[in-house]
Amino acid sequence: MNSISDKLQKNLADFKQEHLLTFWDELSGTEQHELDAQLESINFKYIDSLQNQSSEEKEKTIEPCATVLLDDSCNQQGIDSIRRGEIGVLTVAGGQGTRLGWSGPKGTYPATPISGKSLFQVIAEQIVFASKKYNTSIPWYIMTSVENDDVTRSFLLDNNCFGLERTDIFLFTQGEVPVVDKDGKMLLSSKSKIAMNPDGHGGVISALQRSGGLDEMVTRGVKYLSYVQIDNPLVNVVDPWFLGLHMGDLSSAEASSKCVKKMDPDERVGVFCSVNGNVEIVEYSDLPSEKASERDNDGQLSYGSGSIALHLFSIEFLQRIAEDLPWHKANKKVPFVDLYTGEIINPDTPNAYKFEKFVFDVLRFAKKPLVVETKREEEFAPIKNASGQDSPKTSHALQLERANRWLSLRGVQVSEEARVEISALTAVRAGDLVPSTLPSSIGANQKVIL
Ligand code: UTP
Repeated sequence: MNSISDKLQKNLADFKQEHLLTFWDELSGTEQHELDAQLESINFKYIDSLQNQSSEEKEKTIEPCATVLLDDSCNQQGIDSIRRGEIGVLTVAGGQGTRLGWSGPKGTYPATPISGKSLFQVIAEQIVFASKKYNTSIPWYIMTSVENDDVTRSFLLDNNCFGLERTDIFLFTQGEVPVVDKDGKMLLSSKSKIAMNPDGHGGVISALQRSGGLDEMVTRGVKYLSYVQIDNPLVNVVDPWFLGLHMGDLSSAEASSKCVKKMDPDERVGVFCSVNGNVEIVEYSDLPSEKASERDNDGQLSYGSGSIALHLFSIEFLQRIAEDLPWHKANKKVPFVDLYTGEIINPDTPNAYKFEKFVFDVLRFAKKPLVVETKREEEFAPIKNASGQDSPKTSHALQLERANRWLSLRGVQVSEEARVEISALTAVRAGDLVPSTLPSSIGANQKVIL
């Protein structure tokens, strides 16, 4: 039988977590070893401090925030920077995808309407396209979770990294935090395992630093990071127009974000606001309803700049704030082992607290943050839910609409019912389509992949 070190025993006693050893004597040698290793990896003092930190709520003054329009003025600066190899892509792909209900990592989900390309492939092909177009290499940093890291690695390798060099892809795993009950006691998910939760998309900054990713970027000469989520097949991953605005004429913004106009006051998206003078995203559930429906003199929603979770970050800025993001505490239903019976209980009501960081919390630390308004129909078709809003069905319809619109802009007669999918290897905006290579018309029942 293995024994627990004196230091660990003391830690468990000091932080009232001795119950985690309730089943110690029943465990096999391997299980004891695993539980011991997990206990050794937990910073009990830190977890204890989170519980007080996250309940602090200060008085907030919320006001509308200024935005600029994405326009054609600054793209040359962005293009030059991309050519110099200064941009990298960061994708957070560690989420559990609970709402979609897909068994694998969300990035493996077949997302395009005709060929069913995965969400990973959609992003990879844009990076391949931009690398060729700007004759440069663009590294891709992908955050996985402890749970989905192996499957994600195999998926990318089995698919030859979708045409990217293996040396340009960096996978790193996000952190995990123990789940606690209302009294701050950690829960067991089995007799030999402490229940853990991924530390949220905001965990990406410290995970990048821990894994050496931020240092690697500096060595490579990467100065800007294009942050994209995994689940939006219309995402514009390498956008010189956005980068040009971020770089600015005189001095760079430290963080820039894209927004779209909210469809209506009740749309459930976070909104860019000025909070106590800082740019922040206020979640839809935290925006008072009278503010959500307030309109300006032009009849536009005053708080109508909806977040699409697309950001550009300057690397120096991320290095500075890597450990500064606050924790958020959420009351959730978490299965746990009953300490008296040893049975696993699936609670009907929230029984535990999970701790997470949100990436958009970086904005409040940024000097000169910029919020850039773009067109929803060009860049936003998320796949969040299995059905209804933001589902594969709505995303397919938006992808097909955009493809038809691009073809019409390039002079092709397209029936509204035509089904067209445009690969990112062919075009990432309408202007990339070469009219001489396109059919003159596409009829109602035709299915075309370009
Ligand atoms: P969501 O908040 O939509 O969560 O993540 P999700 O895990 O994909 O889906 P649900 O809520 O369980 O249904 C937005 C983005 O943040 C990433 C996701 O992979 C997605 O790209 N994410 C989220 C992480 O990388 N880690 C996390 O801990 C949470």
